[in-house]
Amino acid sequence: MDKKRPRSAAAPLLPGAVLFDAYGTLFDVYSVGLLAEQLFPGHGQALGVLWRDKQIEYTRLVTTSKLGAQRESVYQPFWELTRAGLRYACKRLGLTLTLDAEQQLMNQYRHLSAFPENREVLQTLKARGIITGILSNGDPEMLGIAVRSAGLEDLLDHVLSVDSLRQYKTHPDAYALGTEAVGLPASQVVFVSCNSWDALGATWFGYQTLWVNRYNLPFEELGTQPARTGSNLREVLAFFDR
Ligand code: LAC
Repeated sequence: MDKKRPRSAAAPLLPGAVLFDAYGTLFDVYSVGLLAEQLFPGHGQALGVLWRDKQIEYTRLVTTSKLGAQRESVYQPFWELTRAGLRYACKRLGLTLTLDAEQQLMNQYRHLSAFPENREVLQTLKARGIITGILSNGDPEMLGIAVRSAGLEDLLDHVLSVDSLRQYKTHPDAYALGTEAVGLPASQVVFVSCNSWDALGATWFGYQTLWVNRYNLPFEELGTQPARTGSNLREVLAFFDR
């Protein structure tokens, strides 16, 4: 951005809030790979990736499908979809998942490591008076444990779960939980996600979006780009750099 340009009355308002995706963005979902590698030597990485992909695929399946003529919801909480994704991934890779191994991996998922820059970025946003929050597919219990384990509870104004709606992102109603909670239009809210599909869904919804490309991946090829791309969470501060 040209910093010398004078601010005119028409200059867009600075965002008033930043909402973060949780899994993959604040909390490292691939950190389970280490334990997976111990339990299934030579397969940890593949299991971590397939587990994650299946978990997300299931969120879409239960959001877009309905049961029978009554169109009943087939929603299951994220914790249950996470377990189902793990079971599927092990079967698919030909790995025998004992009850004990399942319990260990699920327990690890509850206590994922947080990325190191989270705290400093959240502290900077709070010091500038910006509203902060999580908007996640995770259910409230999972999110509560992850936020407390990472010691981030004092730095987040909102911890929003789609569980109250029983519809997962990228359903627009799920993204609307964020604008309702912070009381601002989407154009004045920054949404941060490490997941390209989530950054795309949020951009379509109308948020100013930062895609944190931690793994040097290509963005989705559907003709829409996020407002910004960075390699870690610190890039979010650039939205306020005027
Ligand atoms: C979340 C998952 C999608 O936290 O990363 O919403």
